[in-house]
Amino acid sequence: MANPKAPAKALRRGVLAFMFTGLVAGAGTAASAPLFPKGDPAKGAALHKGQCVSCHNSMMPTGKGEELYSEDFRKMKSASELRTMVEFCANRTRSGWFEEEIEHVSRYLNDQHYKFKK
Ligand code: HEC
Repeated sequence: MANPKAPAKALRRGVLAFMFTGLVAGAGTAASAPLFPKGDPAKGAALHKGQCVSCHNSMMPTGKGEELYSEDFRKMKSASELRTMVEFCANRTRSGWFEEEIEHVSRYLNDQHYKFKK
């Protein structure tokens, strides 16, 4: 018969490895905390798609609004400028967005395009 303690041992090793990975991942997050920590990038993506993309698309000769955020086009130079612009554009479109939505979209745009560290 196989050693009945083997599975328990393997399980324990698995748990330890899991905890270790968690620690390392946790440390990584702490070292480079994301900007807009309360923003949910998935919600931001949906909001952005719903209310922001079509106008930006119409502004670009290529029809690709996201080029506005590329390094060649962008005017924003920091996360705080980005946030201000998100708020400005959102207000102009009478989106009715609150802090929450602005954080979601700022997070999404920064994660996806700007990659500002501060
Ligand atoms: C009615 C048209 C319109 C809509 C709708 C709109 N925008 Fe804009 N957006 C603009 C214009 C115009 C600019 C400025 C372009 C320029 O001068 O560089 C701009 C620029 C921006 C920029 C700065 C780009 C850069 O780095 O230079 C961000 C960020 C932005 N918009 C976010 C948003 C968000 C988020 C929404 C959705 C709430 C949104 N916009 C909806 C017209 C619009």
